Amino acid sequence: MIIAIDGPAASGKGTLARRLAAHYDLKRLDTGLLYRAVARAVLDADGDVEDPDARRLAARDLDGAQLDNEADLRMPGIGEAASIVAADPAVRQHVLAFQRGFAADPQGAILDGRDIGTVVCPDADVKLFVTATAEARAERRFREMAPLGAGLTYQSVLDDIRRRDTRDTSRAIAPLKAADDALLLDTTELDIEAAFRAAVDLISGLRAAI
Ligand code: CDP
Repeated sequence: MIIAIDGPAASGKGTLARRLAAHYDLKRLDTGLLYRAVARAVLDADGDVEDPDARRLAARDLDGAQLDNEADLRMPGIGEAASIVAADPAVRQHVLAFQRGFAADPQGAILDGRDIGTVVCPDADVKLFVTATAEARAERRFREMAPLGAGLTYQSVLDDIRRRDTRDTSRAIAPLKAADDALLLDTTELDIEAAFRAAVDLISGLRAAI
């Protein structure tokens, strides 16, 4: 079984994907980390994510081992840099190959990101589109990040989320949007456990209907 989970920043898709992976015994790829790793590699080489040559080179050389230092990839600022490199079609082409390789496992997999149900795995058995209001997402992300970033405020996190939402939904290539056949899950009023239960119910309903 392939499960595709898409949604905007801090919608809860990552936590949900982790829980579903354990529940269904599937391996999982957080595809946002791939774009974060590309951005990180550019910055580590003293490059500029606005420079097409620098980000394309980093995407071409992307290696799974770069995902190991997840805490580093989640530092404040890297999400914004990731959404800049992610708008480049040549970068997406390299990252697509990596994701397709991961999804080709006969045991199945869960992938979460922005374009999994629409571009990476359009034939996925299950597609979930996870949303929540920008304010609820900023609140969650702020609670997660506050211990890490000195000077981080709720307002700066909300601004970052809105900026990324705009860039991710309006870019020409693989914009963030629900696939026509995706099941929608709004987690604004749901905690992790409730969101997990709701997703399992949606998936069971879908499988029963096949
Ligand atoms: O964790 P959070 O939702 O904040 O971000 P992420 O999932 O790690 O993704 C970081 C950035 O990578 C996003 O803002 C997108 O621009 C980009 N991305 C993408 O374009 N396509 C994906 N499948 C996953 C992420």
